[in-house]
Amino acid sequence: MLKVMNTTNQVLVTVRPFGDWVRASERVLAAGATLCLETFGIEDHIEELWNQGLSLLISRISFVSCRDVAVAQSILSLVTSQQLIAAQSPRVIIPFSKVTHDQLEALKSLHPIPRLSSILEVEQFSTSPWGEAEDRLVLIEGYESGGLCGSDSQYILFQKAISSLGNCRIIVSGPIGLLSFSALNSQGIFSILLDEQTLLLQDSYLPLRSRKILNRVNGRQSIVLRSGTDPSLDVRCICLPGKDSPGYLFGSTIEAPQLNELATWSSDWIFPVGEGIDLAKDFSQQYRTLGRLISAYRSIKVNSTSATSHPNTIATQFGVKYPIIQGPMSRVSDTAEFAASVARGGALPTIAAAMLTAEALEKILIQTADLIPYLPWGVGLLGFIDSTHLKSQISVLKRSKASFCILAGGTPAQAKEIASQHLRVFIHAPTPELLDLFIKEGWRDFILEGRECGGHIGPLSSLNLWERSIRVVLGQSKAVSRDVCLVLAGGIHDEASAAFAAYMVQDLVKTGATCGLLVGSAYLATREIVEDRAITRTYQEVSLQCSNTVFLETSPGHQSRCADTAFSREFNSLRDELVKAQVPVREISSRLDQLILGRLRLASKGLQRGEGGLVAVTENDQLQLGMYMLGEAVCLINDQTTIHQLHESIRNGLETPARRAQQDISERAQPAGVVSEYRGQHDIAIIGMSCKLPGANDPEQFWNLVLQARNQIKEIPEDRWSITDFYSADPKETNKIHSKWGAFLDAVQFNPIEFGLPPQSLSSIDPAQLLALVCVKEALQNAGYPEDCLYDRESTCVVLGFSGGLGELG
Ligand SMILES: Cc1cc2nc3c(=O)[nH]c(=O)nc-3n(C[C@H](O)[C@H](O)[C@H](O)COP(=O)(O)O)c2cc1C
Repeated sequence: MLKVMNTTNQVLVTVRPFGDWVRASERVLAAGATLCLETFGIEDHIEELWNQGLSLLISRISFVSCRDVAVAQSILSLVTSQQLIAAQSPRVIIPFSKVTHDQLEALKSLHPIPRLSSILEVEQFSTSPWGEAEDRLVLIEGYESGGLCGSDSQYILFQKAISSLGNCRIIVSGPIGLLSFSALNSQGIFSILLDEQTLLLQDSYLPLRSRKILNRVNGRQSIVLRSGTDPSLDVRCICLPGKDSPGYLFGSTIEAPQLNELATWSSDWIFPVGEGIDLAKDFSQQYRTLGRLISAYRSIKVNSTSATSHPNTIATQFGVKYPIIQGPMSRVSDTAEFAASVARGGALPTIAAAMLTAEALEKILIQTADLIPYLPWGVGLLGFIDSTHLKSQISVLKRSKASFCILAGGTPAQAKEIASQHLRVFIHAPTPELLDLFIKEGWRDFILEGRECGGHIGPLSSLNLWERSIRVVLGQSKAVSRDVCLVLAGGIHDEASAAFAAYMVQDLVKTGATCGLLVGSAYLATREIVEDRAITRTYQEVSLQCSNTVFLETSPGHQSRCADTAFSREFNSLRDELVKAQVPVREISSRLDQLILGRLRLASKGLQRGEGGLVAVTENDQLQLGMYMLGEAVCLINDQTTIHQLHESIRNGLETPARRAQQDISERAQPAGVVSEYRGQHDIAIIGMSCKLPGANDPEQFWNLVLQARNQIKEIPEDRWSITDFYSADPKETNKIHSKWGAFLDAVQFNPIEFGLPPQSLSSIDPAQLLALVCVKEALQNAGYPEDCLYDRESTCVVLGFSGGLGELG
């Protein structure tokens, strides 16, 4: 069940006490945002910081982010010792798992806010004493974020939080762009915490030196390291190769000195940043300053009333009921029966060619064509496998009745080779940069699969990839964007996840582009996938019971997402051992590739290659030895479902924006009495006024006239025009005016240079427009906004009234 939309557009901004942090803090506050101080790395220097300026800022800092209770307590004691406790004291954001119930009691006066960064934590929180607090505010942060990070992605974590923490106000932190923010708002979040997004702005607190380096990196380079000082801490960072750099690999351990350098931004080669750095680069070009960026976030409205009720989708293009592609799954979606069940269920099935021989593939494709002769289906190819093998698969595919192909790890050149009049090819675009390149090369059909997905995973998480890729398409010419088809994948499995995706593509569908969703892991929970022998019941049970997924990384960047099982643990301990022994990367890769050989089939089909061919294994061996590839979404799926239920829930989600738009329209059409109930809830304040009225050059003078009841009607003054020339008392006389009375403004001084106008242009400008300029300037001054002052321009509005010069109507 989705929550009611929240349109408060609260924005919190993180500032770290480095570089020009006091000035950056002032700017955050001037832009109308809420200030959050991050203390990671300065735990031992709080008192020093206090003397540097924190004591002056503290009453305006609303949130302080702490690594543990000790830090929170030292802030508490400082605030208390300064007797500020009676005034506003900040709320502390603190890792949920690091606080005991007793410590919680001690922190009560600082109103702690738990930071939740894994699904497990969300579940534990909902049943813990924390959950009993009156003002239930929680902060959730996915593993994409730099610095201390959790284990689950933002997209999945948010879905879990929204379903489990029904009556909490949720703050979301991480690489959330404007489209994702709009989608989050649609599902009722309280606020967003901006952090990495702001790092590269002109007025960021970061020293120029760090900004210059970070401008050259990207989020794909970020890796997760384990802290050597505290095994429960994981840190996401970008670690540049070079002098002094140990060249960390994903999952290596970082020791105390480097961790300290990382946290204090004092190194030139390691930085606590994650995927958000990509947004930071985009924003530094687009918005340049904190004020503008904050305004852009604050101006986001969940614009449901303009939702497109009939967006172009792949359902229409392929003539099926649902705009859903079932993603190709190696060793899983390789039975004609399962493809037939998905197709009969109204979606688009895909057979995974993976490493199948051409003969084996052809057999399945012929069976599929026989089973569903009139329904569309596709084939998934891997563009990176041995080229002779791939060529043989392509020739089988071309002879088949398939309607489309999904090409993972491939290029437009390969896609051109595969495509024909009857065969459409969707290429995986793993990054926005590649998407842009592929579009330039003339390709239009794409899969955007975030790393939440099951199987081999790409470099970027769904929200980051979708957000920035959609922007790439929005930046194309109209002729190009309306031809583009984007299919979103990675973590989509139900109504809420599909609704989220539907909100993200709102702007895109307005360009006429086509959209669709691709789903893989959620099918693992369907009744049909077992009945059609695509997977064994054991595989399904592992999937339904899975509450944590892990990466198996065979070589740097080459990762597969799997369930946390005996085999995953065996794999990772061998990998750790080899890394520790400094075995060359190439050798590590080949040992690990050898280890996983045949393990997916063992899990999915319960079969193992023996001397005489494939032989069945025991259920226990299947559990112990099998590799269970699956996506993060399975952590949110605990019950078996059917293909029909899965498709329907996704469809419901996709229709959410249009349905809400309809509700909004009906609510607006309510009688006036109902609307008046909402009066007073809008955040509008009139903070400045000005006027030019007859006898009154400002509101104060006008008010005095009103109080004194002084009429300003008088005879037309000679310096306006001559009564003798224009006036006649005879109403029948033409070309004359028949009244010599009027109300007239006093002379207004106007300096054209001040407004950037060339003096010689004045004679061709309507005086009313010049007066409007003067009035607006005076209204802003009256509001306390002198020239060049920083204020939130996006949420400031000037309402201008004008009358006069309209004869008797004026
Ligand atoms: C067991 C398994 C095997 C997969 N094998 C492939 C594959 O061979 N080719 C491919 O393009 N994608 C493969 N994928 C990815 C899916 O096609 C799909 O893109 C992904 O599952 C979508 O994300 P989701 O799992 O969050 O729904 C696989 C996924 C799973 C779960």
